[in-house]
Amino acid sequence: MQGNIELLGQWKRTHDCGALRAEHVGKQAVLMGWVNTRRDLGNLIFVDLRDRTGITQVVFDPQIAPECHKKARALRNEWVLAVKGEVTSRLEGQENPDLPTGAIELKAKEIKILNRTDPPPFQVDGAVDGSETLRLKYRYLELRRPEVFQLFQTRHRIAASVRSFLNGKGFIEVETPFLTKSTPEGARDYLVPSRVNKGKFYALPQSPQLFKQLLMIGGFEKYYQIVRCFRDEDLRADRQPEFTQVDLEMSFVSEEDVICLHEEMMAHIFGQVLGHELNVPFPRLTYKQATDRFGTDRPDTRFGLEIVDISDVCARSDFKVFKSVVKGGGAVKAINAKAAASAFSRKGLDELAQVAVDRGAKGLLFIKMQNQGWKSSLEKFFSEPLREEINTALGIEEGDLVILLADQPERACAILGEIRLLIARKLDLIDQNLFSFLWITEFPLLEYNEEEGRFEAVHHPFTSPMEEDISLLDSSPEEVRARAYDLVLNGAEIGGGSIRIHVLDMQKKMFSVLGISPQEAERKFGFFLEALRYGAPPHGGMAIGFDRLVAIMTGTRSIREVIAFPKTTSATCLLTDAPSEVSEAQLRELGLKFDL
Ligand code: AMO
Repeated sequence: MQGNIELLGQWKRTHDCGALRAEHVGKQAVLMGWVNTRRDLGNLIFVDLRDRTGITQVVFDPQIAPECHKKARALRNEWVLAVKGEVTSRLEGQENPDLPTGAIELKAKEIKILNRTDPPPFQVDGAVDGSETLRLKYRYLELRRPEVFQLFQTRHRIAASVRSFLNGKGFIEVETPFLTKSTPEGARDYLVPSRVNKGKFYALPQSPQLFKQLLMIGGFEKYYQIVRCFRDEDLRADRQPEFTQVDLEMSFVSEEDVICLHEEMMAHIFGQVLGHELNVPFPRLTYKQATDRFGTDRPDTRFGLEIVDISDVCARSDFKVFKSVVKGGGAVKAINAKAAASAFSRKGLDELAQVAVDRGAKGLLFIKMQNQGWKSSLEKFFSEPLREEINTALGIEEGDLVILLADQPERACAILGEIRLLIARKLDLIDQNLFSFLWITEFPLLEYNEEEGRFEAVHHPFTSPMEEDISLLDSSPEEVRARAYDLVLNGAEIGGGSIRIHVLDMQKKMFSVLGISPQEAERKFGFFLEALRYGAPPHGGMAIGFDRLVAIMTGTRSIREVIAFPKTTSATCLLTDAPSEVSEAQLRELGLKFDL
């Protein structure tokens, strides 16, 4: 619905819509923005004019400017205006204390309609929340919402804070290629066909891993880049096919240097952007400790509910299931949910047990602690002294609910790790104002891929094994620990890195342990192996998942909310309709044919 529109001409904006205060009363102002809401009271028309900084109430009074009032009659939400007028105090009792500009209003004298709009598919004002599909299709309208703009302002401030911190530490930002050769980070590559080299493809980088290592070989010593990475993988709330990393690499360093630098950087940005003081150093757990105590390598440490191993006591009970599981190399693990006995009815407990069964467990067992003692199907299998041992091991008190699971140790912990999160949510144990950081160290270097019948790198193939474990590379590769570290924040993996292999023979050895033949290694990574021949310094680094960090710092549920133009979980862009078909001619030019 386009009608007459006017040109800005000589008009200059004097103030932002969020800027005017009581002290401006009597001043002339020119505001520009969108009609947020409009109320026509017949005599007077009120328009809330919105720009990215806020809202100012504009009054159209036929006594003051009849022409202007007449024009205002036609206004609709989201029309684009320029308004000239005088800042006046609002009448007593009509101030709006919820609005920073709530003490004043602008008495319009002249108005220019700079643009009109079709009826928007949803209210920008936020009163009606469009469906996610609509909001992504018309993302630019959603971006107009002040609370959404705020997220991007914060994102920008975090990026600026990262840059100022790293610049101050002597790092330099260097751009690395997007059209490149694949670097494995565990996902599929996005491929780009080459027109001039038909039949050949570039890969979009899953990360700049090899380039940053090449920059170290190139003597740059301290590199960083706020950089886009591309991964074709299954998407979730915290995964996008293209996402941003704060990617960093340093020469002549050990784990300690990289870890301390990131602690300092986090303290810097949380202080600068949120005014929040972080306690550094952050706690550290080894991979083994984390998985034993929390059932995951990214534990949410904003609450307790730790997993305790009670295999030893259970093996001495009369309960056959426990005895045989422990005898067969399994374990009995338990969580004490403090004071939760009354929060879980029979049905609630059945639901928890169902979750465990869905994850492959045989079931869960429970103990509710009452003042007379255990209320549990297990009671009759445990003598009084054994019950006491369990009470002590788990710190059980009246009103507690204990959840037990017997299974293979890793599986028991992993399932209890999930149950732990469900209980914490149900009991509302998670303080949303906390930022709980944690380092996870001593990851396994390799994990066995049953399907492919070979070892894979847990981090990536350029990660150093721990010195003291190198001798195990041939005999028991699964026991070799990596010089890798992950940074966890509130149960999300927000970053990971490692000290790298910088010696050619070790890199070749690593490829061979991964079942990559020398020919394949040469074909995929020959350029890198060659570079390692020319004086590579010891080096290491890390990458922070920037979208995840921003999402947590702004308290949003999904990283999609802090990405200006995000993709859906099926990797499509609803706004542009990408990916889309291309013409026959384009395919021909690229030498491509479909075989779907
Ligand atoms: P890694 O693969 O662990 O390490 O990635 C680093 C961090 O990036 C974030 N991340 C993602 N965020 C959003 N969407 C995704 N699809 C996604 N994938 C990963 C996570 C993760 O911790 N080159 C190494 C780093 C290094 O060794 O220096 C790397 O990319 O927060």
